[in-house]
Amino acid sequence: MTDEVRKIVITGITRGLGRALTEKLVGMGHTVIGCGRRFEAVEAVRRALDPEPYFSVADVSDATAVQEWALDVLDRFGAPDLVINNAGVGHASLPFWEVPMEEFDAVIDTNIKGVAHVMRAFLPAMIERGSGIIVNMSSGVGQRAVENFSGYVASKHAIEGLSKAVAKDLPPGLACIPLAPGAIDTELLQRHWGEERSSQHDDPQTWASYAADYILGLTVEQSGQSLRIQTRSV
Ligand SMILES: NC(=O)c1ccc[n+]([C@@H]2O[C@H](COP(=O)([O-])OP(=O)(O)OC[C@H]3O[C@@H](n4cnc5c(N)ncnc54)[C@H](OP(=O)(O)O)[C@@H]3O)[C@@H](O)[C@H]2O)c1
Repeated sequence: MTDEVRKIVITGITRGLGRALTEKLVGMGHTVIGCGRRFEAVEAVRRALDPEPYFSVADVSDATAVQEWALDVLDRFGAPDLVINNAGVGHASLPFWEVPMEEFDAVIDTNIKGVAHVMRAFLPAMIERGSGIIVNMSSGVGQRAVENFSGYVASKHAIEGLSKAVAKDLPPGLACIPLAPGAIDTELLQRHWGEERSSQHDDPQTWASYAADYILGLTVEQSGQSLRIQTRSV
């Protein structure tokens, strides 16, 4: 069912996977409703697209901002068909005890609490309508550990657990899916792996060229399953 026009909410549209996915989905004719935390960056992405999507400035780690954004979106568009919790941050590549506390906290506030804020804000309307899919960007490190990335690893393990638990709470017709996007050459990966290793992987636009169909093809039967997009790079 990837040919019908879908109402898609996506967070973190200013760069990386969120931007590439937004560009691809808008190009496919879907109604994309996005948010980012920096006004100039949000405006730059919006102006570059045709038709210009409905974007807002909202920091997902701010529960009040997310609630206000969601109220506005629900008022204008009604319940979304698909919510993609994409916004996420990493932290300096350091052993746990050397990661600055504020960086660790930002990862928890964005990657875990931000996802919870967005689900809390949109789910009641989706439940009332009786349909919809939430996709929470997880990671390969949602199920295993790597060195020097403790806060991020912890946050993605939490996304796996949170998504599976929410899936159990949802009524029929709705789904919540933790999705590992694969390794893609974005600023997040470059910061952790270094530019050379990161550059061996697909760029975000190449990734979006097949990831968009994969995400649009997700079904409620996959609710609560840990899924992973097979990237085409090494
Ligand atoms: N790249 C990979 O290989 C990879 C692998 C596994 C999982 N992931 C996951 O995929 C998602 C996207 O990652 P990426 O690689 O595209 O990262 P990225 O290039 O660093 O982009 C992250 C995006 O999230 C936005 N963002 C961050 N904090 C936010 C907040 N509090 N509120 C709203 N927007 C916020 C950023 O906005 P600003 O421009 O304002 O910073 C940016 O648009 C993340 O959840 C990440 O954990 C990525």
